[in-house]
Amino acid sequence: MNEKILVTGGTGYIGSHTVVELLENNFQVVIIDNLINSKERTLSQIEKITGKRPEFHKLDLCNLQAVTDFFSVNQDITGIIHFAAFKAVGESVSFPMKYYHNNLTSLINLLFCLSTYSKPVKLVFSSSCAVYGDSDILPVSENLAMKSATSPYGRTKQIAEQMLQDYILTNTNLQAIALRYFNPIGAHPTIEIGEDPIKTYNLIPLLTATALQKRNELYVFGNDYDTADGTCVRDYIHVVDIAKAHIIALKRLLENENKNRYEYYNLGLGKGYSVLDIINTFEKVTSKKVAYKILERRTGDVSAVWASTKKANDILKWKADMTLEEMLLSAWQWELKKEHICC
Ligand code: UD1
Repeated sequence: MNEKILVTGGTGYIGSHTVVELLENNFQVVIIDNLINSKERTLSQIEKITGKRPEFHKLDLCNLQAVTDFFSVNQDITGIIHFAAFKAVGESVSFPMKYYHNNLTSLINLLFCLSTYSKPVKLVFSSSCAVYGDSDILPVSENLAMKSATSPYGRTKQIAEQMLQDYILTNTNLQAIALRYFNPIGAHPTIEIGEDPIKTYNLIPLLTATALQKRNELYVFGNDYDTADGTCVRDYIHVVDIAKAHIIALKRLLENENKNRYEYYNLGLGKGYSVLDIINTFEKVTSKKVAYKILERRTGDVSAVWASTKKANDILKWKADMTLEEMLLSAWQWELKKEHICC
């Protein structure tokens, strides 16, 4: 397989891990990223792991002219994995237009360019379990009706999935698979790449930074939810398991094995852990203490969500491999290492 795959947001967290898997599967990779929440040094880290440096374009997908120019000289792309988006639930509640503008304009521009693209294209879309809203049925399976999303972030993912389906109905040159991730965490087994944002709102990087005493304490958002210990429950899944699912989905599309022109799958471990479970397990596997304080609930959070992974297991033949202990240990090793990586 030597096809040319465009990865938008390819220097980001899940993007970079997926680029490694693509290169290791002998795909040619072109990355577009505006580096607003990721670092160019990730390209060197990817090269360290794979021995290959992906082609890189610093480009903002919200700039239609720039995207049009990119496609006019890149007519040999057969697959796209679209990660580029903002992803913080809490921030999206405070700055909704930032999310609607960025996450939707980028996809609209991409689809606009594809509508005049000369070749058929296969697209894997980075979606989220946030599309299910606050489900009262657990685990959530793909055939559940989507409830209203609890944050603008989740709503951008719902709208984007709907937009893709509508687009595909009338544009025969596109087929797509949406992958609905639960909570990706952890780092690559080489510990050369991991979660390395400019600014983070996610639990695990904040937790590891607290354990390393870069922060005084971790804030736990709410302990009065209707869960076993009162804190929110999520389905945490290792980022490499997620990355591998992208290769499977992409190959399914490129090899015309998909049964529908638009498909969607949950990617989770299929188990729920509370925020306190995460802190306790982290302390157990690393022997590090995490100072934490209970705060108010974070607006936009659902109380509990975990995945039914049956559809992905049965149809994609994909299953998450890594345990919570392995995920947290790799996140910790990455926290220890990342400061020593040269810019
Ligand atoms: C959401 C999406 C997930 C997506 C992710 C991207 C849902 C259910 N999940 O994850 O699919 O991949 O955004 O960012 O919408 N927490 C604290 N203190 C902190 C930070 C977080 O207690 O400082 C808690 C949150 O309240 C939450 C859990 O930790 O219960 C995980 O939070 P976070 O890592 O931000 O991810 P989600 O918002 O759950």
